[in-house]
Amino acid sequence: MRYFDARVIENRSLGGGYFVFRLGGCEPLAGSRPGQFVMLRGDWGRDPLLPRPLSLLSVAHEGRADLLAKVVGKGTALMERSPPGSRVSVLGPLGNSFPEPSCDVTDLLVAGGVGLPPLFMQAESAARLGLASGSEMLYGGRTSRDLVLLGEMRALGIPLHLATEDGSLGRRGRVTDELEARLEHWRAAASTRRLRIMACGPRAMLWAVGRIAQSCDIECYLSLEEQMACGIGVCLGCAVAAETRPYRYVCKDGPVFPASEVMAQATAASTSRSEGGQQ
Ligand SMILES: Cc1cc2nc3c(=O)[nH]c(=O)nc-3n(C[C@H](O)[C@H](O)[C@H](O)COP(=O)(O)OP(=O)(O)OC[C@H]3O[C@@H](n4cnc5c(N)ncnc54)[C@H](O)[C@@H]3O)c2cc1C
Ligand code: FES
Repeated sequence: MRYFDARVIENRSLGGGYFVFRLGGCEPLAGSRPGQFVMLRGDWGRDPLLPRPLSLLSVAHEGRADLLAKVVGKGTALMERSPPGSRVSVLGPLGNSFPEPSCDVTDLLVAGGVGLPPLFMQAESAARLGLASGSEMLYGGRTSRDLVLLGEMRALGIPLHLATEDGSLGRRGRVTDELEARLEHWRAAASTRRLRIMACGPRAMLWAVGRIAQSCDIECYLSLEEQMACGIGVCLGCAVAAETRPYRYVCKDGPVFPASEVMAQATAASTSRSEGGQQ
């Protein structure tokens, strides 16, 4: 992991506030694994001061790295407007990764909205090992505008199952409905293949995925997102409650956690919601 300067080679708008940022000069990211992220800051003066965490979407040999982002605030808006040639400072690769694809296991990759990048990279890694058809991508969003890079995923050869809340593409409903349907499919097929779930997306989606995995006794990994100031375990701003220790830090111990390690957060979140509702 190190700090380095990179340049925007291409900035491709995908509509709906999503864009793919292609960077050159990212040789230090060679060998990065799916789930890892960078802290990135553009040449935009003092505001915002802190770099922003973004997951790696794809890393190529010639120092090229792709990131997929969605505009939610000032930092991502400035990135979206950065033209080719702009300089960015990058710290990475940071964090841990999902388990490697394996020919003994079917991986159900569950992505919600802009949680796609680490799972796209996992699918890419499976394709490189000739295992893409042995995994499945379950990808959900509010509308069809939230489902991006579909052509790129089909080109990897990974079976794709889509869900949108408004029914504009794929199953009408949440991606967790699609997950339950796929698990039912595997149960009905009486397959002896081992299943494993990996997920990234909004927090409520992750807890729902974790609960489904627990109820079916399936190994499950969740990639968490927290607001981050340093990305390297110094500011202690990204703490999450954990089973085996009082706290774990998303940047340094994660962002990928076994669901069993962090589901205490889900219980805490639902308890505080129901306590709030009684007041
Ligand atoms: C490990 C990790 C990987 C990430 N990967 C990606 C990615 O690949 N693509 C992508 O688009 N985004 C990703 N994010 C989220 C991204 O970092 C934030 O959207 C970004 O920092 C927002 O910066 P901003 O200046 O645009 O918005 P701000 O003005 O900082 O925030 C705008 C709003 O978004 C909320 N927010 C900011 N950061 C987060 C966060 N991490 N989680 C939940 N809410 C947040 C704020 O509370 C605020 O309401 C990732 C975050 C983490 C921790
Ligand atoms: S972001 Fe500073 S400790 Fe994790």
